[in-house]
Amino acid sequence: MIQEIGLKELDPDKFVEEQAESIKAAVGDGIAINALSGGVDSSVVTMLGHRALGRQLRTVIVQNGLLREGETEWVSTVFHELGVEVEIIDARMEFLDSLKGLTDPEEKREAVTNTFYKRVFGRLVRESGARFLLQGTILTDVDETVAGIKRQHNVFAQLGIDPEEALGYQIIEPLVRLRKDGVRIAGRALGLPEEMLGRIPFPGPGLAARIIGEVTAERLETVRKATVIVEKALAGSGAFQYMAILHSDRVTGVREGRRDFGQQIEVRCWDSTDSRTATPSRLPYEILEKMAADITDQVPGVVSVTYNITAKPPSTIEAI
Ligand code: XMP
Repeated sequence: MIQEIGLKELDPDKFVEEQAESIKAAVGDGIAINALSGGVDSSVVTMLGHRALGRQLRTVIVQNGLLREGETEWVSTVFHELGVEVEIIDARMEFLDSLKGLTDPEEKREAVTNTFYKRVFGRLVRESGARFLLQGTILTDVDETVAGIKRQHNVFAQLGIDPEEALGYQIIEPLVRLRKDGVRIAGRALGLPEEMLGRIPFPGPGLAARIIGEVTAERLETVRKATVIVEKALAGSGAFQYMAILHSDRVTGVREGRRDFGQQIEVRCWDSTDSRTATPSRLPYEILEKMAADITDQVPGVVSVTYNITAKPPSTIEAI
């Protein structure tokens, strides 16, 4: 049972100091690797790791092909300005291959997990001699995985899997007693810029969590393009998280007077504080209509856009 640190008890400076010390103690004079995804959690872990380990920490962004448009470039620029050098590792083909033919949500999550931890990290760890992986698991990830709702791609020990045995390296999780709101406060204490801390959450399995059915290069491109439009339209909404989801069933549309049996995008926009429960944001119709028009105009093959009005529970935030 992990002891939660709630917002009332959280002293961010003390938290940062204690975590940095315990990372340093665990790693000693060894080398640790940390995977930066650009999300709030992994960004906070990166800063924490650098404070604790300096040059003993190697920070990488794995370009898994499941990221948002321009993501690796944007993230590496922000961290460069913070004095943290980030290496980009191109593993797009490996991830696409591992997802080929899979339609079951948990099998897709498992494929991303295995490619990430066993193949890509396994290789990095062997090459660099690192024995530790620093990662940004938070308490919500653990709760949902243990409850069997979703296999969060970054949860091992809590499922009874020993990472050392299964993967050949140890995993350090400095944020595991916090939830999202606490992580943001810790990040502020570490000097992360607001443009990074204020980012909406993005899941480990990336856009694969937003494609119903098989993940292919073409379908990734479709959801990625729709994501750009949704994120731009809702950036000022104040919502907790928003996204585009690509459905697998098609519907009949009409373009230039001709039948077009096309694809469907579902937009979700959530109000929430910690992602355990969430309600759909009451967005103005003008915004919804503009998003629908932009998506059907600019994303090839899409003829239908819907807005999800279901709360979590029974929905979840991501589609798979
Ligand atoms: P769900 O879809 O379970 O999402 O309601 C709750 C929050 O967690 C994020 N999420 C993930 N984050 N790895 C992550 O790091 C994952 O596998 C994962 N799945 C969901 C989701 O974006 C939301 O903020």
